[in-house]
Amino acid sequence: MGITKRPFGTLPDGQEATLYTLRNAGGFSVSVSDFGGTIVHILAPDRKGQFQNVVCGYDSVEEYVVADGYLGATVGRFCNRIARGRFTLEGKVYDDLYINDGPNHLHGGKVGFSHRLWSVAGTEEGEEPSLTLRLVSPDGEEGYPGRLDVSVTFTVRADHALAIHYEARTDQTTVVNLTNHAYFNLGGYASGDVLDQVLWLDAQSYLRGDENLIPTGEMIPVDGTPFDFRTPKAIGRDFFADDADLKKAGGYDHCFNFTDWQSAGRELRLRGTAFDPATGRKLELFTNSPCVQLYTANFLKNPAFPLSGGYPQMTQHAFCLETQKMPDSPNHEGFTDTTLCPGEVFDYTTVYRFSAE
Ligand code: GLA
Repeated sequence: MGITKRPFGTLPDGQEATLYTLRNAGGFSVSVSDFGGTIVHILAPDRKGQFQNVVCGYDSVEEYVVADGYLGATVGRFCNRIARGRFTLEGKVYDDLYINDGPNHLHGGKVGFSHRLWSVAGTEEGEEPSLTLRLVSPDGEEGYPGRLDVSVTFTVRADHALAIHYEARTDQTTVVNLTNHAYFNLGGYASGDVLDQVLWLDAQSYLRGDENLIPTGEMIPVDGTPFDFRTPKAIGRDFFADDADLKKAGGYDHCFNFTDWQSAGRELRLRGTAFDPATGRKLELFTNSPCVQLYTANFLKNPAFPLSGGYPQMTQHAFCLETQKMPDSPNHEGFTDTTLCPGEVFDYTTVYRFSAE
C-alpha cells in the first residue's frame, strides 16, 4: 500500500508528466496523472477477487494531449456547456469564452483544466494514500474572470473507495463547476458495452437539452420517462426508446438533479449505484454535489485513438457519472448557483466506492 510513481510521457512543450498510483492494503488501486488530474486506471476486484481496470484510458500522456473525450480528466473551470460562450455576472458581460462545441463552450475551453499540467501540492502515504494536485488559473484565462486557485485531492480509502475532494478560491467573482470525467465499465474497460449494467440514481428530474445539448431551462420529472432510474434498471432497458430527448443526445447525456438538491446541504449522500451482473462489481456514488451528468459514451468512437492496449473506442462501452452543478447555470434563473466570490471556498466531494457481490 502507499504511493508509487512513474514517468507518463512528454508534453509538446517538453514538460514531463507523471503517473501516481495509490494502493490500499487490499490491492485496490487508482492511478492519476498530473496531466489533467486524470484518472488513468482503477483496479477493482470482481466477485472472484479478480482485479481489472474499470475505467477507459490511454497508455501515455501523448494521447491524452490530442485525443478528445476527456477520459478520466478533471474538468474545469466550468464543466459541460455554456451557451454561445457567454454569460453575465454582476452586471458585466463575459462573451469571450472559447467556442469548441458547435456554437457553444464545452468543458472549460481550448485548454481547460483537463489539458493542463497540475503541480503536486502534497501526498500522504499510509493505509489511505492521497495525492493533492493544484492548479492556478490566471485572471482572464479562457475568458473567465478572476485568478482561480484549485486543488483536487484523490484519496484511496481502505474500503475500496476513491474520494475526490475539490476546492477552489478566487480573487474576483467568477463561475466554477468542477467534475471528473471517468468512463466506467464495471466489467472491465475492454469487456463490451455497458447496456446490461444496472443503474440506480436518486434523481427526480433531468434537464432537457436543445439540439446542441444546451439546457432549455426545463426540468422534466423523470416519472414515466426513460430517465427514471429511481428503481434500478439496466442502462439498455429504455436506451432505444422512442424519446426525443434521448434521440437528440444519441443516448444518455443529461444532467440528473438529485432529489432534494435544493436543500441537501453539505452531507455526502448515496446518490447512485451501478452493478455489473456478469462480474458482480458494484459502484456506489456518494456526493454533496446537486446533480450528475449521466453520459453513455455516445461520442466514444474515434478510430484514431484506441484505448489502452489498442482496444478500439466504441459507443456505450462506458458510462460517466459526472457530479456537477447544472450546465449553463450562469444563463438560467432557478438553476444551481455556480458563482464563487472572493473569501468563499468551492468545496465538494465525490466518492466512488467499489465492491462485489
Ligand atoms: C460530457 C458532455 C458530452 C460530451 C462528453 C465528452 O459528458 O455532456 O456531450 O461532450 O462530455 O465527449
